[in-house]
Amino acid sequence: MSHPQLGVCYYPEHWDETRWSDDAAQMAALGLAKVRIGEFAWSRLEPEPGRYEFDWMRRAIDTLAQHGLEVILGTPTATPPIWLIQQIPDMLAVDQDGRTRTFGSRRHYCFSHAGYRQACANIVTALAKAFGDHPAVTAWQTDNEYGCHDTTLSYSNAAREGFRTWLSQKYQSPSRLNSAWGNVFWSMEYSSIDDVDLPNATVTEANPAHWLDFYRYSSDQVVSFNRLQTDIIRKYAPGADVVHNFMGRVTEFDHFAVGADLDVSSWDSYPLGFLEDRVEADDDHKRTYARSGDPDFQAFHHDLYRATSGGRVWVMEQQPGPVNWARYNPAPRAGMVRLWSLEAFAHGAELVSYFRWRQAPFAQEQMHSGLMKPDGDPARVCDEVRQVADELGNIDQSTRQADVAIVFDYTSCWAWDIQPQGQGFSHFQVVFELYQALRRQGLDVDFIHTESPNLDDYKLIFAPALFSFSDAFTKRLGAFNGRLVIGPRSGSKTQEFCIPEKLPPSLPRDILDLKVNAVESLPPKMPVRADGGSLKIWREFAEPGPDCAVLRCSDDGPSVLFQQKNVFYLAGWPDNDLIDEILTGVVEGLDLKTQSLPDGVRIRRLGNLIFVFNYGEAEHSLADLGVNGETVIGGPVLAGSDVVIVRQNDQM
Ligand code: GAL
Repeated sequence: MSHPQLGVCYYPEHWDETRWSDDAAQMAALGLAKVRIGEFAWSRLEPEPGRYEFDWMRRAIDTLAQHGLEVILGTPTATPPIWLIQQIPDMLAVDQDGRTRTFGSRRHYCFSHAGYRQACANIVTALAKAFGDHPAVTAWQTDNEYGCHDTTLSYSNAAREGFRTWLSQKYQSPSRLNSAWGNVFWSMEYSSIDDVDLPNATVTEANPAHWLDFYRYSSDQVVSFNRLQTDIIRKYAPGADVVHNFMGRVTEFDHFAVGADLDVSSWDSYPLGFLEDRVEADDDHKRTYARSGDPDFQAFHHDLYRATSGGRVWVMEQQPGPVNWARYNPAPRAGMVRLWSLEAFAHGAELVSYFRWRQAPFAQEQMHSGLMKPDGDPARVCDEVRQVADELGNIDQSTRQADVAIVFDYTSCWAWDIQPQGQGFSHFQVVFELYQALRRQGLDVDFIHTESPNLDDYKLIFAPALFSFSDAFTKRLGAFNGRLVIGPRSGSKTQEFCIPEKLPPSLPRDILDLKVNAVESLPPKMPVRADGGSLKIWREFAEPGPDCAVLRCSDDGPSVLFQQKNVFYLAGWPDNDLIDEILTGVVEGLDLKTQSLPDGVRIRRLGNLIFVFNYGEAEHSLADLGVNGETVIGGPVLAGSDVVIVRQNDQM
């Protein structure tokens, strides 16, 4: 049995070389095993075109290795140096308003630019040749946080040209494109695909089908940009893990498609920054969890990103204290950095690596905390890291499939961002609220995508807000033996972004004999009351066929929940009360252990371990939580910000 590991992000180029050995010794003494370096160091690795300076990097890697540390080597392609921009100025990305994004921070490149790709291939090849066989370099990270800082979509000339080529390949002729997009509308017909522009500068909204193809194109660019690097790394560093670090709540490219080229999907977990800037919640929730983070947001990403690479996940960057980039940047409550670390392991992470080793006293992130203070002495958080390091031996690396799965679909993210129809309608948010509800009931959740194999391994699958059912997925759903919950808004478009001829959800009658005749979106403070709670933002007027029963209605008449054999249809976006009620009914008879967990308490099973996490401050006894077994860490009381791990000999 192997145990998970700890690591840290380190920037040797930021510090005097005389310091490296002491740093490495301190890292090892703290119980860290892996160190990620190099991902922003292009100007030091190639100070002038074609002049590589790798000696310092070799000395840094050797120094870390001398202290028994393994290295995750980052490719520096998120930070192209100034000379490269001077060489190929049109490699810079262009924003939606047509402004060129300039040099002076990072991620200032356009995925579509062939010249930039060549420059990346050159530096990645040189690095992979130089360090591919270094025994300490056991993993490689491609680039850094694709899509972060709004960088997936670029409206550059390179993107325009690339998009036209992509469209020509997809549609073969302008008439096919015109018919797929419905371009007879507003006289938008093209006589040549080379006349198609990018959709950003139209007078009023561009055709949603035009936008969706541009999202698909842009996502494909991220995938092929990443693959360019993974192919090179695999050639020169066979056996090393190839990893990318995804960011939280970035949905503009298909992470499943990028993940297919990785050994491990890693991600960067900043619970307090996320709560402030990326979690949609009211002020009360934000205040309650300001020092702990949302109780589900981290778990959601561990589970989602684990699925994107087929089962392996790391946390490449873990928040260690206040960050510098959110609206407000509070400090975590004592214990939370430990909790976040253990929670990642509970969700299958093999590694939690802290960002960053030492707080930099200069440049953009001087206010971002690290494990070490700017003066190089340990920050208080090191006590928590040391404790986690001591606890690792109790955690066996294993996986455990959940009984419940949710379909997460990036095309649906794009579709509803393009056409929300009501402010706030988003695939991510509908899925996230469902995930939260399932976890409030103590359930473990997996994410799947529409091509995931083995649907029958699950007892219950949800496909909410799924833009379109492909023929292949429809067939597999028809053969699925478990329970299925569809809606709201699922199957409401064709793949071409049109309303299906037979009206949504457009499934064969033997799966679901129901059609959605009309929809409405609901402004805030205008919820529709229903039995057990309310619908918000989105409501449908659905008509069931004879084999489809109505299970629940709204107070003003139209039905909210339907059932046909093992398939349920949800005709609106339920608030928390309503979804809790609905789930209680949906899981009935499924042999799933559900419970109503107190606010801020979450449970997750890993192998035969049960982890109990407390994002809140109130104490709870394990007995009250219905958790029993041999306590491995903590217990029998779960304090605020604390974790208890229990071993059960027969799995729950
Ligand atoms: C991440 C990024 C790091 C660092 C960190 C600060 O998004 O990958 O390089 O900027 O945020 O929180």
